[in-house]
Amino acid sequence: MPICMPSPTDAQADLIAYLDFHVEAGADAVLDERPHDRFGEAAAPAPSLRAAPRPEAAPRPAGLVPPPGSPPPAAPVQPRTFGRAASAQPDEAASDARARAREARTLDELARILADFDACPLRFTAKNLVFADGNPGARVMFLGEAPGADEDRIGKPFMGRSGQLLDKMMAAIGLDRTSAYIGNIVPWRPPGNRNPTPQEVAVCRPFVERQIELVDPEVIVCLGAPATQTLTGTKDGILRTRGRLFPYKLPTREAKLLATLHPAFLLRQPVQKRLAWRDFRALRTLLDGTA
Ligand code: URA
Repeated sequence: MPICMPSPTDAQADLIAYLDFHVEAGADAVLDERPHDRFGEAAAPAPSLRAAPRPEAAPRPAGLVPPPGSPPPAAPVQPRTFGRAASAQPDEAASDARARAREARTLDELARILADFDACPLRFTAKNLVFADGNPGARVMFLGEAPGADEDRIGKPFMGRSGQLLDKMMAAIGLDRTSAYIGNIVPWRPPGNRNPTPQEVAVCRPFVERQIELVDPEVIVCLGAPATQTLTGTKDGILRTRGRLFPYKLPTREAKLLATLHPAFLLRQPVQKRLAWRDFRALRTLLDGTA
C-alpha cells in the first residue's frame, strides 16, 4: 500500500530555506548570548547548523519527515581542527608567514608552502587555495582582494561575474589570461564573502609580496581599495587613488603600481566604468611604452 508522506508546511519550508540561506552564506556555528572560546573548543565537535542536535524531548514534527526517495540525512559534521591558526598570535603568524614566504624560490614552491601554511584561519573554511591564474611570465599582474564562491569552488581567481567583466576589460586593451597574471591579496575565500580582517590580510601579505617578486611584473594593477591599500600603505579610498601610479620596489627594479576600480564595484555601479576605462587605457599606454 503506498504511503503518503506529508510535505513540509509553508512555515516549515520557510524555516528550512532560512537555515539553508545562512549555511550557504557561510554561517557554520550556532551562537548564543554568552561568549565562547571557539579556538579552545577546536578539538571538540563544533556545533553546526547542519548538525545541531535536536532536543530529545521534542517529537519531530510530522511535516519534517523526509519524502520517499530523499537523500539520506547528511553525515554529522566532523570536528574541524584549526592547526596553528587556533593558537598563533597574529604577529607570530605574520612573522612565520614572512619566513615561510622567503623560502620559496619559485611560484610552485610558494603555492606548496601556502597550501601547507596553517596559521591563517581562512584556509579551514575555504574549499580550495586560490593561488593564481594566467601567465607567470606576463608583464602585467592584476591583484584582487579575495576569492568568492566560484573561485573557491574552482581554485582559480576571478572565475565568477567579476572575472567575466575583468576578462572583457582586459580584452578591450588586448590582454587575456595568456598575457596577464592574476592573483589576490588573500588566497582563501572568507566565509560568506565577508571582507578579510586586517589580521588575515597581514598574515597573507608576505605571500602575495613574494608572489609579486617571483612574477617580477613591470606593472601591478590593484583592483579596488583593499589591494591598493595593502600594497601601497595608503589609507585613501579607491575613488581617490584610482588612476594613480605608485612606485613598487622589487628586488631588481622598480615596478609601477596602478590603482583602479574592482570589477565587482563596476557591476554594482556601471556608470563608473568610464573611470576604469580611463585607467585601462593608461595601462595600455604604459605597456606600449608610450607614456
Ligand atoms: N573578487 C576578487 O577580489 N577576487 C577574485 O578572485 C574574485 C572576485
